[in-house]
Amino acid sequence: MAKKMLFMVLLSHIILCFSVVSSLNLNASLVDDKGIPRFIYVCDPERFNILGLDMAQFAYCDKSLPYNVRAKDLVDRLTLVEKAQQMTDNSSVDIPRIGLPHYKWWSEALHGVAETGDGTHFDSLVPSATVFPNVILTTASFNKTLWKTIGQAVSTEARAMHNLGRAGLTFWSPTINVVRDPRWGRTLETPGEDPYVVGVYAVNYVRGLQDIEGQENTSDPNSRPLKVSACCKHFAAYDLEEFQGVRRLEFDAKVVTEQDMVETFNRPFEMCVKDGDVSSVMCSFNRVNGIPTCADAYLLKKLVREDWNLHGYVVADCDSINEIVKNHKWLNDTVEEASAQVLKAGMDLDCGKSYLKLVDAVKQGLVKEADMDKSLNYLYVVLMRLGWFDGIPSLASLGKKDMCTEENVELAAEAAREGIVLLQNDNETLPLDPAKFKSFALIGPHANATDVMKGNYAGFPCKFITPVEGFSAFGQVTYELGCLDAKCPNDTTIQSAVDIAKNADATFLFVGLSTAIEAEWRDRKDLLLPANQTLLVNKAAEASKGPVILVIMAATGIDISFAKTNPKIKSILWVGYPGEQGGRAIAEVVFGMHNPGGRLPITWYENNYVDKLPMTSMALRPVGDYPGRTYKFFNGSTVYPFGYGLSYTSFKYEYNSADMSLDIKLNRLQHCQGLPYNDTNYKQNCSSVSIDDLTCNDEITFEITVQNVGSRDGSDAVLVYSVPPEGIVGTPFKQVVGFERVYLQANESVNVKFVLNVCQSLNIVDVSGYRLLPSGLHKIVVGDNAISIPVKISYSR
Ligand SMILES: *[C@@H]1O[C@H](CO)[C@@H](O)[C@H](O)[C@H]1NC(C)=O
Ligand SMILES: *[C@@H]1O[C@H](CO)[C@@H](O)[C@H](O)[C@H]1NC(C)=O
Ligand SMILES: *[C@@H]1O[C@H](CO)[C@@H](O)[C@H](O)[C@H]1NC(C)=O
Ligand SMILES: *[C@@H]1O[C@H](CO)[C@@H](O)[C@H](O)[C@H]1NC(C)=O
Ligand SMILES: *[C@@H]1O[C@H](CO)[C@@H](O)[C@H](O)[C@H]1NC(C)=O
Ligand SMILES: *[C@@H]1O[C@H](CO)[C@@H](O)[C@H](O)[C@H]1NC(C)=O
Ligand SMILES: *[C@@H]1O[C@H](CO)[C@@H](O)[C@H](O)[C@H]1NC(C)=O
Ligand SMILES: *[C@@H]1O[C@H](CO)[C@@H](O)[C@H](O)[C@H]1NC(C)=O
Ligand SMILES: *[C@@H]1O[C@H](CO)[C@@H](O)[C@H](O)[C@H]1NC(C)=O
Ligand SMILES: *[C@@H]1O[C@H](CO)[C@@H](O)[C@H](O)[C@H]1NC(C)=O
Ligand SMILES: *[C@@H]1O[C@H](CO)[C@@H](O)[C@H](O)[C@H]1NC(C)=O
Ligand SMILES: *[C@@H]1O[C@H](CO)[C@@H](O)[C@H](O)[C@H]1NC(C)=O
Repeated sequence: MAKKMLFMVLLSHIILCFSVVSSLNLNASLVDDKGIPRFIYVCDPERFNILGLDMAQFAYCDKSLPYNVRAKDLVDRLTLVEKAQQMTDNSSVDIPRIGLPHYKWWSEALHGVAETGDGTHFDSLVPSATVFPNVILTTASFNKTLWKTIGQAVSTEARAMHNLGRAGLTFWSPTINVVRDPRWGRTLETPGEDPYVVGVYAVNYVRGLQDIEGQENTSDPNSRPLKVSACCKHFAAYDLEEFQGVRRLEFDAKVVTEQDMVETFNRPFEMCVKDGDVSSVMCSFNRVNGIPTCADAYLLKKLVREDWNLHGYVVADCDSINEIVKNHKWLNDTVEEASAQVLKAGMDLDCGKSYLKLVDAVKQGLVKEADMDKSLNYLYVVLMRLGWFDGIPSLASLGKKDMCTEENVELAAEAAREGIVLLQNDNETLPLDPAKFKSFALIGPHANATDVMKGNYAGFPCKFITPVEGFSAFGQVTYELGCLDAKCPNDTTIQSAVDIAKNADATFLFVGLSTAIEAEWRDRKDLLLPANQTLLVNKAAEASKGPVILVIMAATGIDISFAKTNPKIKSILWVGYPGEQGGRAIAEVVFGMHNPGGRLPITWYENNYVDKLPMTSMALRPVGDYPGRTYKFFNGSTVYPFGYGLSYTSFKYEYNSADMSLDIKLNRLQHCQGLPYNDTNYKQNCSSVSIDDLTCNDEITFEITVQNVGSRDGSDAVLVYSVPPEGIVGTPFKQVVGFERVYLQANESVNVKFVLNVCQSLNIVDVSGYRLLPSGLHKIVVGDNAISIPVKISYSR
């Protein structure tokens, strides 16, 4: 009897095992009832046992072999249909025959793990992740260490979520398109308008996401381990959502000059790939000069893959191939033809389903199966570097305890504090002394903000601190929204808000924009405060008993000239979209627990700027009647210039060394290139040399003494620009070549050292896209012309 029962138990066990394999449900055996994976990596012999397989038979799991050999073994085991599935973000299926589970490629981590993409999901097990400020505000800190530290915190949470089965390992962040036009809806996602600053942000954030400490440098970059995989997007010349009926899905960005490509649009991507060693680049929706970027072999194969030497994969923005067919109607191709074209151009992974048609494309002879194998190899090598096959022991213990830690939430608050920009502070109204000011009226659509502080591409916050809550720690708060949201179409709620200003010791007006006004798909039409917000500001200011402080929550610049000249409005703060701790960070700045040191990473133009040129005009330099764009090419009057920002203290710069000069000896085979001068009588015997033709080892080293001459401790962002020699037509007025944020106690001074490579920092890009080092008198300018150091370059033979 007993024997028989044992036999039956065994039999049912065998049947169970058999049914697991035969129903091909890999999932069930690999996750527990909470959906937590029992195995967080593929090549575990026990996992193969459950599938009835012997792992030793699969070379792709042999750790002694190089990644590309293992990847080849895996790819060779796939059928054509399976290959096509593996080349899409979300259509791969479990292949129990060879022990391979499906993988969802799309996760996002722009400023914290986001809910966007099928690779990630939040639920009761992981309800939240730290929501850092939007990138535009974090950039305003000009603090490289901060940028990298946030990347590290985000990747720790991302990896923890992966271990819990809640996120993938491939995160399609950051967004590093240069802000060319002040109307662009996705400005909040970006590091602003300067290509170099954007590039430095990209490198630091990507290294924070990807690098594993101690393993940053390996001799073979294709086996360098990755904490998570980052993606620099969207390549290239993409910065328009919708302008007068022209949508990004069919926009043909033209005429984009090679000069603007090299100097502006491509530069952050080049830095991201070369210096950040990012493991993925995403091509964009738009066309550049007629060609959809995802189908442009010059951009993808030549630049990204070959010249910049990408170690990783190229992914298409979601449904791009379909848009080529449906909206661009480029060459009128079928989905099969478009898929073949983009694959041949160097696009490895489709976010969408078009690549499933590669099966037919191969059968029709439009593309070779070997081209698919090459892309699959890139994809699997990245997953191997991420430990998806073998695990990464040092990251295995990350889990729930690593989400929303006190340290990460504090870092989110710190990022907001460091980014906040003080735009005006008449008569040193700020900081307010809570001993003297005890009651506060908080007015405006963002006075009690929660979700607005998240911006876009965000997850669910650990804990919001609204402005109302943040200010309540310092005194008695009354609040009235005045407008129910940023769109403020209605003036009926204004009066009740005005009333509370009459009795408070100080009034704070929380105005600005939201993702209902600036976001993906949504460009602005003007640069004003929306609808009745201006009325709200003026009425509340007029009625206020105490000083009025304007707090602007927005990403793009707003023409607030009317508020600058209103004598009741003493102080103005720009707070971006400050993330989950925003309310606390703003209050800590207002009451002097933190001295603001942020600087604007974009120009704030006057509203009439947008009447002078359409968004669709791509040129950075002035063309015809159109003014130039960004601080590099626009010298008209602004509301606030790029790099602007005040402090509760003041800083003085000093430079005591001699002027610099450099004579570069050329050999017979190094040739000079002419430059267009505005004065035809102005002749140099050697105007310039291409930096690709020079050795470029020369460096300019100098130290600036920064002194805090005020009475409060504080931080200063020291911005260093180069100014090209006068008289060369078409150069930027100046360009950022270095920056450093420093913290100084009152009366303290520090020496800040800069080491600039002459070729990298003093080159100009000519109309053909050559990077040239001009001879003549260059200048290194620190801050707002506070210091100007002449650097003379000459060539001799
Ligand atoms: C595998 O698990 C995922 C996530 O838990 C689920 O969405 C999917 O439907 C499952 N697939 C199968 C074949 O059960
Ligand atoms: C991704 O795949 C899952 C099934 O695995 C499906 O439910 C979901 O709708 C897909 N998402 C997209 C964007 O295709
Ligand atoms: C820059 O950021 C780091 C990391 O958050 C921080 O420790 C440091 O104090 C910041 N530097 C300045 C000058 O604010
Ligand atoms: C890796 O190389 C960079 C320079 O490329 C250097 O700054 C860094 O210290 C190196 N890291 C390690 C761990 O060797
Ligand atoms: C695509 O088709 C349209 C309408 O049939 C035609 O006008 C256009 O010239 C075609 N374009 C190309 C590149 O063949
Ligand atoms: C600053 O205060 C002085 C004296 O109270 C006053 O005359 C002046 O108008 C104030 N300036 C501003 C810009 O508020
Ligand atoms: C202010 O925010 C808190 C917390 O989100 C919420 O409970 C309250 O209802 C909000 N007040 C208004 C007027 O929206
Ligand atoms: C303004 O808001 C009030 C109260 O919410 C509402 O009754 C009224 O219809 C709104 N008017 C307009 C023009 O939207
Ligand atoms: C202010 O609100 C009223 C309705 O309450 C509306 O008629 C008016 O157009 C709004 N003003 C602006 C500038 O939008
Ligand atoms: C501004 O730049 C334009 C050309 O872009 C030039 O014509 C004009 O003189 C400049 N104005 C100033 C004040 O420098
Ligand atoms: C050339 O431009 C410089 C400024 O960049 C100016 O000082 C000079 O007067 C100009 N020369 C002529 C002939 O226009
Ligand atoms: C330019 O002219 C100077 C003086 O005539 C000479 O010393 C120098 O070698 C020349 N430079 C080149 C590149 O020919």
